Amino acid sequence: MKVLTVVGARPQFVKAAAVSRVLREDHEEVLVHTGQHYDEDMSDVFFEELSIPFPDTNLGVGSDTHGRQTGAMLAGLEAEIEDEDPDAVLVYGDTNSTLAAAIATSKMDPPLAHVEAGMRSGSDIPEETNRVLTDHAADLLFVPSPDAENNLDGEGITDGVHFSGDVGYDALLWARDRADTDVLSELGVANREFVLSTVHRDTNADDPDKLEAIVDALVSDPRPVVLPAHPRTVARLEEFGLYGRAERGLTLTEPVGYRQFVALLDAATVVATDSGGVQKEAFFLDTPCVTLREQTEWVETVESGWNTLVGADEGAIRTALSDATTPTEKPTPYGDGNAAERIVEVLSDVTRV
Ligand code: UD1
Ligand code: UDP
Repeated sequence: MKVLTVVGARPQFVKAAAVSRVLREDHEEVLVHTGQHYDEDMSDVFFEELSIPFPDTNLGVGSDTHGRQTGAMLAGLEAEIEDEDPDAVLVYGDTNSTLAAAIATSKMDPPLAHVEAGMRSGSDIPEETNRVLTDHAADLLFVPSPDAENNLDGEGITDGVHFSGDVGYDALLWARDRADTDVLSELGVANREFVLSTVHRDTNADDPDKLEAIVDALVSDPRPVVLPAHPRTVARLEEFGLYGRAERGLTLTEPVGYRQFVALLDAATVVATDSGGVQKEAFFLDTPCVTLREQTEWVETVESGWNTLVGADEGAIRTALSDATTPTEKPTPYGDGNAAERIVEVLSDVTRV
């Protein structure tokens, strides 16, 4: 079997690495990077440390408006699929790279397989558009949770749906054993004595009032707060005159590698984030999470008490950070950490016939 995998953004490198490791044992994989993320610490670092080969092709699309970025990817991906003639095209999550690959593939021969299918937050964000459209174009839909399967059922999608569990869990288990704990001393923080934060959603980073509320809430926490800042957030902190305040009050760093990030998340007392993947990784690592959004697609983390949705309200963030506790019980809705095996097995069965 020959699979063409499309990635483009940080969380996709992490997830694709987990599947690639299994896929490449018995099958051929062509890895295409759209170039959506391109800074060394947003892209190359993941290929260097995750034990997967560098992409075969990088379309070099870079940053742009949604339409121009997605359009450039679509044109490049169509040509790649035409040239490679794969048995299946594999996409991850909900970024513009995911959507571009879905549109290109849906009008060509190979089946489209979507990993992390069925996730819905009910909010009006670009990622929700990307998720819904990709699911409706996909032939194979790998769901991470029973709830995701119900979401698809509610939209009339029942054919080709397979429960795989979450590939992010596979990735996390791999990295937890290889966590780079030196990062704690490098950043001057001690186990269970600091807060970790990430912020990158356009709804937070691009809104001066919300970004200021988040910065003020984080700065006011009495514990050290580590913020590995996404380039979008750095640009907006500078633009809105908040960079100095953040730099003085926080341990502001460049984005860190995945094995460093997992070490930080495992050691933090609590994490404040608007990331999808980080909410879930916190749950896996028993670190309470304060989510800087009004809604989440990872509903089980909230229902079980491990995650609190606070939006970008300064008071609510402060209270949630100081009140964060660890519940005594945790459900296991996201599978057993062997999602990659299931995905490869189904792909190979389906493409054989
Ligand atoms: C994208 C995804 C989001 C995902 C996130 C993971 C979409 C619509 N959004 O958001 O779902 O959670 O990736 O991190 O696909 N930039 C750089 N260097 C880089 C990458 C980005 O400087 O290597 C800056 C550019 O100014 C760019 C901005 O960050 O305009 C936003 O990048 P973009 O890829 O458009 O969106 P993300 O916020 O990263
Ligand atoms: N991550 C990382 N370094 C960082 C911040 C995040 O390696 O400095 C990892 C994190 O562990 C998770 C993924 O990047 O696996 C999440 O990416 P992001 O928050 O950018 O995207 P989202 O999950 O919200 O789509």
